[in-house]
Amino acid sequence: MFEKMTMAPDDPILGLNDAFGKDTNPKKINLGVGVYKDSEGWTPVFNSVKKAEERLLADEDTKDYLSITGLAAYNAAVQELLWGGAHEILTNGRAGTVQTPGGTGALRVAADFIHQHMPGATLWLSDPTWANHSKVFESAGVATKPYRYYNPETFGLDFDALIEDLAKIPAGDVVLLHGCCHNPTGVDPSPEQWEKIGDVLQENGVLPLVDFAYHGLGDGLERDAAGLRALSRPGCELFVATSYSKNFGLYRERIGALTVVAADTDATAKAMSHLKICVRTNYSNPPAHGAQIVATVLGDPVLRALWDEEVQGMRDRINGMRHRFVDGLESRGVRRDFSFIAHQRGMFSFSGLTPDQVAALREKHSIYIVGSGRINVAGITDANIDPLIDAIAEVLKG
Ligand code: LMR
Repeated sequence: MFEKMTMAPDDPILGLNDAFGKDTNPKKINLGVGVYKDSEGWTPVFNSVKKAEERLLADEDTKDYLSITGLAAYNAAVQELLWGGAHEILTNGRAGTVQTPGGTGALRVAADFIHQHMPGATLWLSDPTWANHSKVFESAGVATKPYRYYNPETFGLDFDALIEDLAKIPAGDVVLLHGCCHNPTGVDPSPEQWEKIGDVLQENGVLPLVDFAYHGLGDGLERDAAGLRALSRPGCELFVATSYSKNFGLYRERIGALTVVAADTDATAKAMSHLKICVRTNYSNPPAHGAQIVATVLGDPVLRALWDEEVQGMRDRINGMRHRFVDGLESRGVRRDFSFIAHQRGMFSFSGLTPDQVAALREKHSIYIVGSGRINVAGITDANIDPLIDAIAEVLKG
């Protein structure tokens, strides 16, 4: 059975981690997977998380199953963070949330739901997008197609092309939008552009699925939610896939959520009843620890304030590195203008490096970045920034 199989390819992002682990060069640099490093090059446990865990260790009194939808306090906290407590969607009971294993788990639950209840619907993805998006949906039987998004000549958003493509999507299809900090480009629409995106989708009866994996890492928790809130109109329907891997540093706890918004409470209850079946037939019910942490932090004013500060610290470090990276390349005499990197947001930047240049960085310098040229800016540190810039300058000259 298995002998006849051919080897599957390595994952384009997580496979890089394995290759990095095996590299014996002591000067190796990993800017592949989207994981935050502090200035010392470490991925820390947040202080707010540690404090929540101390409380959980003292207070937790059962390991009984959670319900299929997960921890109720967590699901409420997810919604509150997305919309703020007083939003019409919440006061009218139009949102329902299932706790999922990570943001990828949320996407997979959405994919199963779309496959089962929206037969024939296509999922539209930005070009480019996260390398795993099409695979998650296609493996659930949902066809995917691209819409234009990024202009490699300006290193920015191709807004006219984006709107032109969104306007052609047939009613009943689903469009995946990155809530903020677009992965892999770091290029987001402005609040005004989000309004226009919302108009087009609403006019055409297309269902938005907002992938919200980097909330708080762009311009702050409120400003990063502007896109989602521009889509959150009276009577609207949408899905939101949330991840707390990055903004809580809870990568290995696999904690995320899928939230559905329907026109009224009754429709939300119907959608939730089917989402529960998608969960039950996939992983039955979610693990508790990550949800307990997030609910504890967001539910306690002192821990919440500490977490806000920690998210701000990450954001400031990443944005500071963006400027140092651009200035460093300029100071090495690199003629190409890289100033766009300072304007991009979130963990990633699309560097414009070619596949050959990416390969040369890996072969000659043990610097690992994704083949598309995506750099994890959150992995640049005080210790690696100079060798990194020297290597890129050398590869660009060669
Ligand atoms: C990334 O894009 O690097 C992250 O979302 C991690 C992953 O699972 O790919």
